[in-house]
Formats: sequence, C-alpha cells, structure tokens
Amino acid sequence: MNPITISASILSANWANFADQIHIAEEGGLDWIHVDVMDGSFVPNISMGPFILKTCRQITNLPLDVHLMIEKPERHIEAFAEAGADRLGIHIESGPNVYRTLQEIRALGCSPTIVLNPGTPAQSISSVLELIDMVLVMTVNPGFSGQKFIPETMGKVEEISRMLKERNSNAIIQVDGGISQDTLPQAYKAGARCFVSATSLFKYTDGIAAGIQALRTAADQIK
Ligand code: DX5
Ligand code: ZN
Repeated sequence: MNPITISASILSANWANFADQIHIAEEGGLDWIHVDVMDGSFVPNISMGPFILKTCRQITNLPLDVHLMIEKPERHIEAFAEAGADRLGIHIESGPNVYRTLQEIRALGCSPTIVLNPGTPAQSISSVLELIDMVLVMTVNPGFSGQKFIPETMGKVEEISRMLKERNSNAIIQVDGGISQDTLPQAYKAGARCFVSATSLFKYTDGIAAGIQALRTAADQIK
C-alpha cells in the first residue's frame, strides 16, 4: 500500500449537479476538495471566489484546499478563511509579501501552502519553507484544467523533496495539473504524496468514485 491524498479540483465539476457530485466523491473516498481561484490577471482565466467556497463548506465536511491564483492574495485571505478554507495556497510569484502573507494565513487558523509555477526554480521557496505545511508544484501552467502534464517539473519535485528532508520538515508535496493514473507514478516516485485532479476525476468515464479508485490503484502498484 502506498497511501496518497487526493484533492479533487472542482473546476471540472458539472455545476448543474454540483452537490450530488461532491457527495458521490465523498462516498467514493475522496480526501480533499481543491478550489481553484483565478482573477483573470495572475492567470488568463476567471473562476470562483469566497462565495463558492462557502457553498462547498455547506455541502461537505471534507477539508477545503484553496489554491489562489490571484494578484495581491494578501487582500483576500481573510475572506477565504472566513468562507471555510482549511488550507490556503499562494504563489511564490504573487508579489513581494509572500513571507508575511504565509504568516497571516497561519494566524487566521488555516494551513499555509506555497505554490510554484513550472518556470519557477525550487530554490525560490527556500526562505519560506519553515512557514508552510505543503508545497504545491504546478505540473501545468496555471489557468485551465485539461492541460498536458509537464514531465520536466519532476526534477523540481525531487529537489524540493531533498530540501524538505534536509530541513527535517514534515511538509508534504502536492502536484496539480494533468494528473492521471498514467502520470501519477512519476510524481509519486519524485516525492509527491498529494495529487490534485479535475479531469481524471470529474470526467472519468466510469464516474468520480472509479476515478478516485484508479488513482489509488496506480499509487499502490508502485514498487
Ligand atoms: C490549473 C488548476 C488545476 C486544474 C487541474 O490552474 O490549478 O487545479 O483544475 O485540472 P486537470 O486535473 O484537468 O489538469
Ligand atoms: Zn489548482
């Protein structure tokens, strides 16, 4: 058994049946709900804000794993904490106040995550490692679901894995973008233990519960 944490990105959910889908995923053993917040500026797309997060909180007790792809995230973290975020992730590329914002996320009672784009080196997060519980390595360019996994990001997952060990950190590595039963093994071997997926869960041919099971089986088959 190779236990993993699965966080379902609701970006690909069918919004006409949103609550039903979340309940099916919950019964199928989903661990976390991943909420992708996009402002049309930090990334080209616009998605959802605290209002949707609040709706998620009403629908499920699963941990809400919030990924902020926005400029000036410090302006909005309180609203997301109040709306029910359990984990709040900000990008290292989001501005000059990342250290302070991570401290504030912790002070708001949320678990801080630092996120890196595919083009951002591992060393860029070195000075914030003591502040975080999770590192999210983007395995696609942020902005859209349904993109192709970038295998070149795996070297960075390995490097961050080494950095965390050297610091005796218990922080876990999450990967996000193009994760499927085919790509998960590479990311697992590189050191990732938490997997975000939209397409291979909400659009899985045999349904969300089967999609969750397929990812767990892929992890368990790794020797
Ligand atoms: C991309 C988002 C991802 C996205 C993943 O910017 O952060 O969470 O929804 O979608 P898939 O799993 O389809 O690549
Ligand atoms: Zn995401």
